Amino acid sequence: MVSRMEEFQVPFSRGLEGVPVAITAISHIDGKQGNLIYRGFPIEVLAQFSTFEETTYLLWFGDLPNKDELENFKRDLIEHRRIPDFMKECIGNIPRDTHPMEALRTCVSMLGCFDPDKHDTSRGARIRKAVRITAQMATIVAYAHRTRKGLELIDPNPNLSHAANLLYMLTGEVPDAETARLMDVILILHAEHGMNASTFAAMVIASTLSDMHSAIVGGIGALRGPLHGGANERVLEMIEEIGSVENVEPYIKNALAQRRRIMGFGHRVYKTYDPRARILKEYARKLSQKSGQTKWFEIAEKIEEVVIRELGAKGVFPNVDFYSAIVYKMLDLPKEIFTPLFAAARVAGWTAHVLEYLQNNRIFRPTSIYNGPTEVEYIPLEER
Ligand SMILES: CC(C)(COP(=O)(O)OP(=O)(O)OC[C@H]1O[C@@H](n2cnc3c(N)ncnc32)[C@H](O)[C@@H]1OP(=O)(O)O)[C@@H](O)C(=O)NCCC(=O)NCCS
Repeated sequence: MVSRMEEFQVPFSRGLEGVPVAITAISHIDGKQGNLIYRGFPIEVLAQFSTFEETTYLLWFGDLPNKDELENFKRDLIEHRRIPDFMKECIGNIPRDTHPMEALRTCVSMLGCFDPDKHDTSRGARIRKAVRITAQMATIVAYAHRTRKGLELIDPNPNLSHAANLLYMLTGEVPDAETARLMDVILILHAEHGMNASTFAAMVIASTLSDMHSAIVGGIGALRGPLHGGANERVLEMIEEIGSVENVEPYIKNALAQRRRIMGFGHRVYKTYDPRARILKEYARKLSQKSGQTKWFEIAEKIEEVVIRELGAKGVFPNVDFYSAIVYKMLDLPKEIFTPLFAAARVAGWTAHVLEYLQNNRIFRPTSIYNGPTEVEYIPLEER
């Protein structure tokens, strides 16, 4: 029998659009108003006052930590920044033309094999794994990048914050306070975003009672695609290809005429300006003014103007990936690590959702509508 729509308890929705798959207290997006909250706190407030460490604690445990809790949590993350030597060798053996997202995916998978809690499925062990993965992913991103460039690997610095240490391990230089703070804001803005594709992927894996490392590997794989976190790298490619403010209008019009997607625009939930893009736009503006290198920001602003004029009526506005690409460019970070940096932040949200969902787990097992043939006669091989 071919399936019939009436058999299903809920209407079919392509890409699960509008279908709730979990109940969560972690974050909420108001896509009409363009608001985002983590555990009730507006993203603008966290971007102004919080740190990545504090935000991660908030996402996992539901409340802001007190001083002792925060100090202990930070110490825990610092203690787990190092990765084993064999992992460094392994990164060194990955072909140089491998994208750092693939290196990250491979390394997180391997970390799972050596995790001291690998046979422990308790909540406590899951939290310890979340700490280790969060701490070590930043190190892997930095090492994957430096290995590709043939640069020496830099030991983590326990005196630096998570954000500052990440920049230090990437660039080899301790960032100034302003740059370190900007990195912190970037990590906070990317840390969590509701039921997106990578979070859902991680949760589906976790719901089978598989392990935390597998769930995060799944999240990394899903984030990589250009319709999700991979867009930030494509944004910079597009801006570099456009090359000048004058080229923006014909480029965008031509792309839209060919029905191509403009990277860094549009969102399944936001039908207005993404609040994270608004914050990052201001950083991008300040950085480009400060450096005197205003060309990239000017091209970006012009793209925004043209795309909103052409597609605003459809609810297509800049998303987080658009201005983050300019900010990274201004920080002189190479584009192939834009998405790995996104992953190094989003691991906080992936793990938060896994921890929350497993407290009341039910395996994800949706269904599908069969529209293939029925009652087909089997013809033996020799007669085909
Ligand atoms: C994010 C994204 C996948 C959401 O997709 P979605 O929810 O399935 O959105 P839809 O495909 O239903 O888009 C609705 C309409 O807006 C258009 N649209 C959406 N994003 C667009 C974009 N970036 N460029 C051009 N048109 C876009 C669609 O073509 C569609 O038009 P139509 O109704 O005439 O067919 C999509 O906006 C996109 O591909 N963006 C570019 C990649 C990106 O920046 N990803 C990062 C997201 S944070």
